[in-house]
Amino acid sequence: MSTLMIVVASVRPGRIGLPIAEWVREGAEAHGGFEIDFADLAEIGLPFMDEPKHPRLRQYTKQHTIDWSARVDAADAFIFVTPEYNHSFSPALKNALDFLIQEWWRKPAALVSYGGISGGSRGVTAIEPVLAGLGLVRVGAEVEIPFAARLVTDGVFHPEEKDIAVLGKLLDETAILAEGLKPLR
Ligand SMILES: Cc1cc2nc3c(=O)[nH]c(=O)nc-3n(C[C@H](O)[C@H](O)[C@H](O)COP(=O)(O)O)c2cc1C
Repeated sequence: MSTLMIVVASVRPGRIGLPIAEWVREGAEAHGGFEIDFADLAEIGLPFMDEPKHPRLRQYTKQHTIDWSARVDAADAFIFVTPEYNHSFSPALKNALDFLIQEWWRKPAALVSYGGISGGSRGVTAIEPVLAGLGLVRVGAEVEIPFAARLVTDGVFHPEEKDIAVLGKLLDETAILAEGLKPLR
């Protein structure tokens, strides 16, 4: 079985990213193909990247980096649940990605994006070169949720049919790539 890390990329009070990520977690649990690590960047609380040495050396000096490294190392696949902010993806996610390199290498990364009319798609375009640079392998299926706030009531996300269908494809693809990439690491 593969370990799937679901990353909550929004860290603001009142974020809708948390209920959306909880829906993703429920879907992943129902899928049954994963051990799940729910990684809420607000809880993890990484500071701005503060390591003196380049991450490729893995000579970490801070406990928060050592802990984050071990957690990402243990994962076989990732789903990043990210808002679009100013035509890009969450800066907390960029920071969390920047801390590490080898820990991401040759692992699949799927995206659940949300925002206004674009459904977070400009944020997805912005993250693609970052994923490629870190050796993450982009999962083709992608959930995009336009005007996502209208689907959240009392802290619960109510997906549309299309979201449920695409999440199913995304989870299937992620499970296949998680297994397929293991021998290549
Ligand atoms: C600083 C900021 C910038 C935003 N920029 C965009 C944007 O460029 N495109 C968009 O579709 N929505 C944008 N939005 C709307 C967000 O996508 C929407 O508020 C969403 O709920 C944010 O996710 P969160 O609640 O999980 O933080 C922006 C929101 C904020 C707070």
